[in-house]
Amino acid sequence: MTKKRDLLTLRDLTVHEHLALFRRAAVLKHARHERRPVNTMVGRTLVMIFEKASTRTRLSFQAAMLQLGGTTIDLSAANSQMARGEPLADTARVTGRYCDAVMVRTFGDERIREFAAHCEVPVINGLTDDGHPVQVMTDLFTVTERLGEVKGKTIAFVGDTASNMGRSFTRGAGLFGYHLRLASPKGYHPADDVLTPSKDFVALSADPQEAVKGADVVVTDVWTSMGQEAESKQRLADLGGYQVDAKLMKLAAPHAVFLHCLPAHRGEEVTAEVLDGPQSAAWDEAENRLHVQKALLEFLISDHELRRQTR
Ligand code: CP
Ligand code: NVA
Repeated sequence: MTKKRDLLTLRDLTVHEHLALFRRAAVLKHARHERRPVNTMVGRTLVMIFEKASTRTRLSFQAAMLQLGGTTIDLSAANSQMARGEPLADTARVTGRYCDAVMVRTFGDERIREFAAHCEVPVINGLTDDGHPVQVMTDLFTVTERLGEVKGKTIAFVGDTASNMGRSFTRGAGLFGYHLRLASPKGYHPADDVLTPSKDFVALSADPQEAVKGADVVVTDVWTSMGQEAESKQRLADLGGYQVDAKLMKLAAPHAVFLHCLPAHRGEEVTAEVLDGPQSAAWDEAENRLHVQKALLEFLISDHELRRQTR
C-alpha cells in the first residue's frame, strides 16, 4: 500500500500545515463568496461513511467536493453490508479502491484507526467519540478570522470538556499554543492521555466563572453527545451549573467570541441570548466547515497523488 496521510486527530498535521490550510481556506472562501469556480478536484471522489447522524458534516463535505469539481458517495452504514457484519477491514480495503479519500463518522476511535489502516487512500475523521478534528480546525480558523491568530489566546471551554469537542480542543492547545481553560464538574474533564501532550497549555477547573474571566474565546458543546442518550438525565443534573449565559459571557474579554459546533440545545449548555447574540460566531463557524474542508481535501488528495506518482 502506498504511504498516505490521514487526518484522524488534529496532531496528524503540523501546526505549519494547519496554518497553511487556514490561508488556503481564506482564499477558497473569498472565491466562493465571489462565485468564482475553483476546479481542483475534477475526477476525484470522496466516500462518506456515517454511523451517526449528521447535518453539517454531510452537507459541507458534499458541497466542498462538488464545488471543487469532484463528487461524493454517501454510504449510510445502516444500508451497507457493514450492518450485516462484513468486517470493517474488508469494507476499508474495497472502499479505498473506488475513491480518492474517505470521510468516516463513527463511535470508538479504534474503528476509524482500523479503517484507516486497511484503506489505501487518505481517511478523514468526521467525528468519533474521541474527537472532532475537522470541526476544531474550523473553529480555530474562525478564531483567526475574528481575532488575528490563535497562538497565545485564551480559550475557555465550559461544560462537558471530555466530549469529542473538548478532547480535540485539548489536543490542539499544545499544538497551536493557545491557553485552554476547561471548566467541568468532576468526571467530565478529558482523561490524562488526552491532557498530557498539551499539559503546559491546559488548566482544569470546576468553576466556569474562573475559567471564563478575561478569555478571548468561550466554547461549549452539548451535554449529551451522540451515543450517550441513556445517560442524558444524569448529565443534565451534573452539568446544570455549566450553562453559558449572558452573565458568564460578561466575565470574558469585551471582544470575546462565542463558539458552538452545533447542533445546540438552547436552554441547556447555552442560552438563546448568547447563541443568537452578537458575540456568537456559530453561524460563521458552520459555514467555515466548507472552506476549511476544501483546503484539507485538496491537501490530502494531492499529497497522495504525488506519493503514488513517485513511488
Ligand atoms: N458540527 C457538526 O459536526 O454537525 P453535524 O453533526 O450536523 O454534522
Ligand atoms: N459532541 C457532539 C458533537 C456534535 C457535532 C456529539 O458527538 O454529539
